[in-house]
Parts: sequence; C-alpha cells; structure tokens
Amino acid sequence: MTGSKKIALITGANKGIGLAASRQLANLGITVLMGSRDTNRGTAAAAKLKSEGLDVSFIQLDVTRPEDISRVRSELKDTFGRLDILINNAGITHPDEPLFSNSTATVSREALRQTFDVNFFGLVELTQALLPLIQKSPAGRIVNISSMLGSLALHSNPDSGLDQIKALAYNASKAAVNQFTIHLAALLKETPIKVNSAHPGWVKTDLGGEEAPMDVETGAKTGVALATLPNDGPTGGFFHLGEVLPW
Ligand SMILES: NC(=O)c1ccc[n+]([C@@H]2O[C@H](COP(=O)([O-])OP(=O)(O)OC[C@H]3O[C@@H](n4cnc5c(N)ncnc54)[C@H](OP(=O)(O)O)[C@@H]3O)[C@@H](O)[C@H]2O)c1
Repeated sequence: MTGSKKIALITGANKGIGLAASRQLANLGITVLMGSRDTNRGTAAAAKLKSEGLDVSFIQLDVTRPEDISRVRSELKDTFGRLDILINNAGITHPDEPLFSNSTATVSREALRQTFDVNFFGLVELTQALLPLIQKSPAGRIVNISSMLGSLALHSNPDSGLDQIKALAYNASKAAVNQFTIHLAALLKETPIKVNSAHPGWVKTDLGGEEAPMDVETGAKTGVALATLPNDGPTGGFFHLGEVLPW
C-alpha cells in the first residue's frame, strides 16, 4: 500500500466529463488513473493534465473487455493495494439511436446489447472486480455516472419535459445503472463505502452535443462532489449539483 494520497480511477477519462473530472480530482491532491479504451487518446489526455502539474496517469481500460478489467484489478492491487474512488463514467449512445427520439418500437437488439454492454454490463463487472480493493480503503466512494434520462419517475410524469427524449436503449441502461446503485449501496450500508448515482446535467460533449447548455467543468462537478463525500455524506442516492433526483 502506498502513501496517504487518495487513489481514484475514472473510466472514459480521455475526453468529456471524465477528462474534466480527472482534472478536478487531481487538483484536490488525488492521484488519478485515467481509464481510456484507446491508448493514443488516453496517453494524450493524461499528458495534457501532467503538463498542468497534475498527478495523473493513463490506464488502458475498455469496460466491455473482461481481460482489461482483470489486468486493471491486478495493476491496482500490485501498485496501490487499494482503491479509494471509482467513477464509472464511460458511456455511449448508440449511433442508430439519437437521444432525441422515441426508439421504443424500432430499436434493434444489437443497439440494445451494445449500449448495455458499455453503460451497464461493463460498469457492473468492473465495480464487482474492484470492490475488494475499494473495501481496503478507509473511505471508499463509488460514483455511477447515470442520467436523469434513467429516471422512471420523470419518464412516467407527462409534465417532466422528457416526451421527446425516449431513446430506449440509453435510457433503460441508465435506469439499470440506478438500480445497481441502490442494490450496491444496500449491500454496503454497514461499511464506510458510499455508492451514488450522478446526473451530470445536459453537457456540451461529443455525447451531449453542441446545443447542450452546460460546460464540461460544471458537468463534472456532481460526480466529483460524490467522489469526495465526507464520512457522514449520503449513500444510495441520485443527485445533480447537490439536489436529490427522483428514481
Ligand atoms: N453529456 C451529457 O449531456 C450527459 C448527460 C447525462 C449523462 N451523461 C453521461 O456522462 C458520461 C460521460 O459522457 P460524456 O458526455 O463525457 O461523453 P463523451 O465525451 O462521449 O465521453 C464518453 C467517454 O466514454 C468512453 N467510452 C465509451 N465506450 C467505452 C468503453 N467500452 N470502455 C471505456 N470507455 C469507453 C469514451 O471513449 P472514446 O473516446 O474511446 O470513445 C469517452 O472517453 C456518460 O456515462 C454519459 O452517459 C452525459
């Protein structure tokens, strides 16, 4: 086990919200491992933050590849012996399924599978693999980057403004992520580990699009706040910039 600095792993950290969250956590004095499925993109992103004097490094991780997950677990175990913060940020929308659509009657099994593979199955498998290392932390934090589009309460409310945003694969994958948050928090409720879901906002990234009103620095804040919760902070919740969202 090395030093007293906290160790964080962020998936999909080579761009967008994951990159901004890496910068924010490293600026708080945390050692950040920036997961990226692509070595060139990941190395370049980490080099940029290193050039700002930040303690970050690239770690190759495609969350859909069990062999990557098992290698990352071994590297973390051998190098640090624990993990303090896991931000499950990697996520996709399927190219066949625009967010502003109702794909319910048409979405293909392939699009459903590919979306769930990244957004849910990979997230669950990685978290399960790293849980023994997070349990070695005195104050483990697990943050699942979800979306308000995963909220069943909002989708079932005709006044919530989500009528035009019913992309089934994406939205269902985020609802499943929220269920994972609730179940994992229940499992770990007698431990110091806190598990929460974050809605970043509608953020200007490759996924969010150019029309999104929120900049990426603000979009990273909810996840970073949940990753650095004090010991008396909440667990098993769904948040956006300090506000509780309905499941
Ligand atoms: N932007 C929004 O408005 C918004 C709103 C609500 C929730 N979110 C959520 O926020 C998270 C980050 O999204 P973003 O807006 O920052 O999107 P983004 O800019 O498109 O970044 C997504 C990141 O996920 C990575 N990724 C995709 N598939 C992966 C895989 N199999 N293994 C590992 N990494 C993978 C991407 O890597 P590559 O560069 O290699 O593709 C990229 O680093 C997602 O979970 C998204 O659903 C975003």
